[in-house]
Amino acid sequence: MPRSLCQITDLTAGEIKEILDLCRRMKSGEISPKPLAGRSVACIFTKPSLRTRVSFETGINDLGGHAMYITDNEIQLGRRESVADAARVLSRYVGLIMIRTFAQTDVEELARYSSVPVVNGLTDLVHPCQILGDYFTVTEQLGEKERYRIAYLGDGNNVTNSWLNLASLVPLELRIGTAQECAPDDSITDRARGNPDSEILLTDDPKEAVVDADVLYTDVWASMGQKDLAAEKAEKLKRFQINSALLARANPKAIVLHCLPAERGKEITDDVMDGPQSAIFDQAENRLHIQKAIMTFLLNQA
Ligand code: CP
Ligand code: NVA
Repeated sequence: MPRSLCQITDLTAGEIKEILDLCRRMKSGEISPKPLAGRSVACIFTKPSLRTRVSFETGINDLGGHAMYITDNEIQLGRRESVADAARVLSRYVGLIMIRTFAQTDVEELARYSSVPVVNGLTDLVHPCQILGDYFTVTEQLGEKERYRIAYLGDGNNVTNSWLNLASLVPLELRIGTAQECAPDDSITDRARGNPDSEILLTDDPKEAVVDADVLYTDVWASMGQKDLAAEKAEKLKRFQINSALLARANPKAIVLHCLPAERGKEITDDVMDGPQSAIFDQAENRLHIQKAIMTFLLNQA
């Protein structure tokens, strides 16, 4: 069976280090492998995307391959035919499948029946490529450190769950400031707490979350597929907005990250997003370098 990335816990800590190292060497131009030369990649999107779509398509091109953008209108995954049959057929044509969709089980089923690597480009549960790229950004911006203190403020969503997945494998001090009703996934949180080298704090006090943090991180309060809950979530999460008053409580050298797209004025203010501590657009650039490293790593395992 080929190696896939359905979530970060499909990797070992050593493999994460290997992917970050590949990313660093590809970004600097030290290496430019072409593991996709002469191959196509199916990029399936059942949700919208700017960064994931464009960084994958550009990255596939850089790796010598050809990207195919496939929407749910055509493929109708699991409705026109089973996910397993779609996996069996797609693997006869392409060298890798990338998918962004709602259900994590669909990504896992695609990976189970595919004979080529499958990469999760976001589900309702997790967003692994995002957090691997973000971890790269943290190391790049702050230098190597035994354990970073990351304060995540806002909705306990797919992005939060992926930070927790990362914390289950590498030492992290993850301080999640959120409302009780918006907490991240229980079993993913328990798994992260099982790593004795990490420390996980869940608090409904935003000030407690950000004390001495190296990184302040946020994401939209209502994710794709939940926009009908936007007003309700905004009411519950408004105390967790990243603004200059909250940033002042973090480590003075802290950086601010946001996976984007942002709803400026809600989860983050303009002055913080555009301010000197923001590394948000470097973070967005790194999506390109990490996608290339992830695909190269998986294709090298086959
Ligand atoms: N951060 C991220 O995945 O952005 P898109 O939804 O635009 O792909
Ligand atoms: N939590 C957000 C992330 C977008 C990249 C969403 O799922 O919409």
